Amino acid sequence: MKRHLLIPLMLLAGFLCMAQNTDESSTIIRIQDDAARGQIIPKEIYGQFSEHLGSCIYGGLWVGKDSPIPNRDGYRLDVLNALKKLQVPVLRWPGGCFADDYHWMDGIGPLEQRARISNNNWGGTLEDNSFGTHEFLNLCELLDCEPYISGNVGSGTPEELAKWVEYMTSDSQSTVANMRRANGRDKAWKVKFLGIGNEAWGCGGNMRPEYYADLFRRYTTYTRNYGGRLYKIASGASDFDYNWTEVLMQAVGTKMDAIAVHYYTVLDWNRKGSATQFSEDEYMRCLRRAFGIEDCIKGHIAIMDKYDPQKRVDLLVDEWGTWFNVEPGTNPGHLFQQSTMRDAIVAGLSLNIFHKYTDRIKMANIAQIVNVLQSMILTKDSQMVLTPTYHVFEMYKVFQGAEFIPVEYSAGNIVSGDQELEIPALSVTAARKDGKRYVAVVNTDLKHERKLALSADKTVGGATGRILTAKDIHDYNDFGKSAKVEPKPFTGAHKTRNGLEVTIPAMSVVVLEIQ
Ligand code: AHR
Repeated sequence: MKRHLLIPLMLLAGFLCMAQNTDESSTIIRIQDDAARGQIIPKEIYGQFSEHLGSCIYGGLWVGKDSPIPNRDGYRLDVLNALKKLQVPVLRWPGGCFADDYHWMDGIGPLEQRARISNNNWGGTLEDNSFGTHEFLNLCELLDCEPYISGNVGSGTPEELAKWVEYMTSDSQSTVANMRRANGRDKAWKVKFLGIGNEAWGCGGNMRPEYYADLFRRYTTYTRNYGGRLYKIASGASDFDYNWTEVLMQAVGTKMDAIAVHYYTVLDWNRKGSATQFSEDEYMRCLRRAFGIEDCIKGHIAIMDKYDPQKRVDLLVDEWGTWFNVEPGTNPGHLFQQSTMRDAIVAGLSLNIFHKYTDRIKMANIAQIVNVLQSMILTKDSQMVLTPTYHVFEMYKVFQGAEFIPVEYSAGNIVSGDQELEIPALSVTAARKDGKRYVAVVNTDLKHERKLALSADKTVGGATGRILTAKDIHDYNDFGKSAKVEPKPFTGAHKTRNGLEVTIPAMSVVVLEIQ
């Protein structure tokens, strides 16, 4: 072909595959039942995070006993009931950055005597400490979830943290345990997860890893086991800071139970973009960053494997999720953002990635549970909405405690206009529990459905399930309006000779039970 014809043709071809891969043929998916090796997806992968930030606690989880908003002992009833349906396995508190400014004695005892402080990390809001240790641990009991206490290392002392642990967990007749009794709680609470600081490299003290490693060793010496054994969590790296993990593994090693990495899906820390109004390019960049968590995790695991091949130290991702600009007109320090179908896609693909690495990753806590960043729930006065992310967590709860099953598939990528942005077209995970098999599929393609030819090592009889999708990727559930993004029964799976033909609509998250 003549060169002057070839170049325009190449450009045309490039343009045609610009938006998305339009391959109509079926993607072959093989559920490798026989390759499952007893790797259990810990329920804590579905963990949540709550911080004294914006209206996460006040107005979100807690309205106080005298509020006109229906409540049970001060906890919002609508939120409580919605959270019960999620089977929250673990809840982290009180921060975040707030944790290293938090002095637990401020939040116990008669309400009128509690300290009033300025929440310096989050907009300087007045914090009256009406939600403290008792209110948090009682909430965990109501939700039947494990508390995860994030201790103050940045501005606290080993003595302060040691006494907090004693206050919560000791059944002795010590002065500290008796102080708890005097404040209305006779029996010690069950607390297993203890964070030794948060983001020690940043808001938790701006430390070097070498210095923090020594502090970790010091603090853990004095935080003692009263009831059960404490599981002590080191403040880990910010996304790709592998040196942090390297130093901690060298200097602390198996003295820590876990190291907790933070990874946010953020477009650019200086230009985070709107949560609800975004271009296709921003969508692609957002998803590329979300998929990037896999490389991040793999990098940290490789370092951990070098020092700890027996996998005695766990990796946690105790903060993750999308981070966009706050909603217009809201306090910039309160991190209140809406949640669209895009967030649901990020949630689904992130959970699918975590499942794969659960031989090392034992907990993940999405940020945050109510009214902050990629929330499950948003509230405005007495109103409440469930976000698309809530629905993903609700649909995925079948994976809590299930045995991971490897899946083989090759679905290719979707490519953006300028060819610079590529993201996987599909994300798939599978697991089994109580004799049932579950598969979750995320279709990231905004325009094209995907046909799957699904087969498995074991017989496939049929499938039922639910789908979360929307008319538009920007759709979200808003106050006072009927919900736009809600799960529906899935009818796109049909029995074939070899398994199933499954049609996954564009921009959707599907969870199937395979018979
Ligand atoms: O989740 C919001 C903040 O993000 C947390 O307080 C902090 O740990 C992180 O930087």
